[in-house]
Amino acid sequence: MAANWKMNKKIGEAQVFLDEFIPLVWNVKDVDIVIAPPFTALYTVSNLLKITHVSLAAQNMYHAEKGAFTGEISPAMLTDVGCSHVIIGHSERRTIFGETSGMLNNKVQSARNSGLEVIFCIGETLAEREADMTFDVLSKQINDGLKGIAPEGIIVAYEPVWAIGTGKTATTGEAQEAHAFVRKTLSGLYGKVSEEIRILYGGSVTPENIDSLMACADVDGALVGGASLKADSFARIVKYNK
Ligand code: PGA
Repeated sequence: MAANWKMNKKIGEAQVFLDEFIPLVWNVKDVDIVIAPPFTALYTVSNLLKITHVSLAAQNMYHAEKGAFTGEISPAMLTDVGCSHVIIGHSERRTIFGETSGMLNNKVQSARNSGLEVIFCIGETLAEREADMTFDVLSKQINDGLKGIAPEGIIVAYEPVWAIGTGKTATTGEAQEAHAFVRKTLSGLYGKVSEEIRILYGGSVTPENIDSLMACADVDGALVGGASLKADSFARIVKYNK
């Protein structure tokens, strides 16, 4: 279960969240928990997570190791601050910041070279879904983004763009259909190992809908935005079905 805080929470707010959240999930040992704060809170959150079983992720990175790239952050800087994961290719990066499949493929490669686990995001827009292009879009995003990348350390997040931050979740039928397709496409790339790749669902996940989403055969977890900003709500998502 991964929390994507996006551009939310200053350092003090992150501390307040963790003070409440960690005790709530202290006993949860059978779910991998990841939190992706904004860059400015990584160092503080990293220190607070040190004695916990919760992992730290960044929301983005640049593929180069170092150099004249004003405003960017390298994979080595992320591992240095304690990140084990990085989110790559979120739809907000693709649409607002113009990140292309080629750029994302470079980022995934470079993150893996540095030992970071990658939460690689894919998903169709409403217009693409209505034009019956969902599977074409997903297959292209997977094949272009993961080209030449080994399957180890790859987590895929299926996030229909029309469901992100809108309060509209995919139905369990829609989610399962897309996840099964993602699994099939991954098996074209990787063969049998694809059965072990975790596919997260993202897009208006809440404590109310997590149980039914997790009941879908090919939904292995969730990437949560809005509902991850409150400790009790994200803890309930982590403890789905309980
Ligand atoms: P949301 O965001 O849960 O607020 O829809 C999910 C995401 O963008 O990762």
